[in-house]
Amino acid sequence: MSTVCLIPAAGAGTRLAAGRPKAFVDLAGQTILERAVRGVLEADVDAVVVAVPADLVSEAQVLLPDCHVVVGGAERSASVRACIAAATASFDAEVILIHDAARALTPPDLFRRVVDAVRAGAPAVIPGVPVTDTLKAVEPVGVGGPERVVATVDRSVLRAVQTPQGFAPDALARAHAAGGHATDDAGLAEEAGIPVTVVPGDLMAFKITTEWDLRLARMLLEATGVR
Ligand code: C5P
Repeated sequence: MSTVCLIPAAGAGTRLAAGRPKAFVDLAGQTILERAVRGVLEADVDAVVVAVPADLVSEAQVLLPDCHVVVGGAERSASVRACIAAATASFDAEVILIHDAARALTPPDLFRRVVDAVRAGAPAVIPGVPVTDTLKAVEPVGVGGPERVVATVDRSVLRAVQTPQGFAPDALARAHAAGGHATDDAGLAEEAGIPVTVVPGDLMAFKITTEWDLRLARMLLEATGVR
């Protein structure tokens, strides 16, 4: 049964402010994107499709000779759709994973857990981790002032959602058919009425968003001796 992984990596990385698109920022001697792809290939995935900014296609093709590279879109959902179009044209996938390049340290076991759940019959599968902080709903007090607590949210029913997210191909096509703009693909599946299954996530699948996350990723690689 073939598994194809789609990697949207066409974001500008504005919050990281590293001077170039986030996926092409150095993470201990390799780009974030190369590290992400390496994790995917270690997890028995058969093919990888990557979406990058238009001016970085040639660079990506050199860095990632084993991947199919396409031009991404203005929003993450558009980049995912560019990957879906390429994957549908080139591969006969039975499981499709969608994985953020920014989750570069995701362990192979998490990919396997998601793939196994799709193979077991779930049309859409996401990894989730419990929320550890106390969460408050707030509202502003005046303009530009402090905020006021409206309620304390019950965190026991909340999960922070990661990638890879896994789909049966027909479910993914239905999720994206309406051309929605959710920040994750499971959100589009939910809107399309497709049941979404949660499997245990992994703290190493954290998303590199800010300079702090990048420092953490570098320290973790150093501590584990990964090259
Ligand atoms: O911005 P954020 O970190 O939420 O983006 C998640 C993933 O989506 C990143 O890997 C980013 O490169 C990708 N993305 C994309 N195309 C965009 C915006 C984000 O492929 N237009």
